Amino acid sequence: MQLPLYLQERVNGLYTELKSGELEKTQKSLTHKYKNETGESRSLINSKQDGLLYAISRMPATYAVIYTLISQLLEQGFISDVESVLDVGAGTGAGYFAIKELDEGIGIKLVERDEFMIDVCKRLSDGNAEILKRDIIRDEIDETADLVMTSYVLSEMKEQDRLNSILKLLKSANKYLLIIDTGTPRVYENMMTVKRFVLEKGYHVVAPCQNEKCGLKNDYCQFYARVERSSLMKQAKAGELSYEDEKYFYLLISKESNKIEGSRVLRRPVIKPNMIEHTLCSVDGVSKKVFTKKNKELFKLAKKAKINDLIDEG
Ligand SMILES: C[S@@+](CC[C@H](N)C(=O)[O-])C[C@H]1O[C@@H](n2cnc3c(N)ncnc32)[C@H](O)[C@@H]1O
Repeated sequence: MQLPLYLQERVNGLYTELKSGELEKTQKSLTHKYKNETGESRSLINSKQDGLLYAISRMPATYAVIYTLISQLLEQGFISDVESVLDVGAGTGAGYFAIKELDEGIGIKLVERDEFMIDVCKRLSDGNAEILKRDIIRDEIDETADLVMTSYVLSEMKEQDRLNSILKLLKSANKYLLIIDTGTPRVYENMMTVKRFVLEKGYHVVAPCQNEKCGLKNDYCQFYARVERSSLMKQAKAGELSYEDEKYFYLLISKESNKIEGSRVLRRPVIKPNMIEHTLCSVDGVSKKVFTKKNKELFKLAKKAKINDLIDEG
């Protein structure tokens, strides 16, 4: 998955504003900040260069995750009744561009606290993105939308700020709250706390979990989106590979209970001649299920199934 051509061209245009060597230097300092200063509710984007670098080096991956996940959720029958979206902590606009690519007509508003990110997002969207400058921790959010989403924001916060922010986001959501974040054990733990918190408040977690109590023991789950690296991304990250697999975790929280039938594929399958073994999250917990040619139809579906797909266990 790549950024749409028009957007990649606009991102490339930002590069011309960086002085020689600034791309690599900013990448190093931003990576250092994201590794060492995250989780404290602190702003990590502190300069124009940080904002430009984020669009060049991180946005293609966050765009790919948002686009891939929302397409998959729609295919699976979730969030098909959404007519408006509010993206909170919108950054340089990954959510805005992904949603617009999926449905040009949908109404989307953005909330962002950082002026450098707002500036880049405005320029990339040709001034079309509607951005409200707010801090979700400090400010009240009066806007509402069918789907409120937030990607790669909540793990930057302290736990109490995260839970308070989630209450505000849920208040703004007419129907759903979609939380997307990095696929790491730390984020997974945080999200399990969020899951318990929202269930206690009477909301429903409808994806990816197929049950209320996580069936994984001393383990965690994560999902992937494949991102094709642009030459600028390769340069920023001093990498040669033409792609990267961006790992993520998400929670789709709903105000109504609209559980969709099926078991969710959690891992890459083990494939042997005439048999496929999937690790599945179902209403009964997490278990391994072997599909054989005895049931040709199910076997075919199991062969095609990728991580985060829903399949019928038969
Ligand atoms: C890692 S970036 C993610 C940007 C975008 N959502 C994406 O997926 O590419 C995190 C963004 O959240 C914003 N953010 C962090 N805390 C915030 C808060 N309390 N209120 C509003 N925005 C916040 C940051 O300024 C930054 O733009």
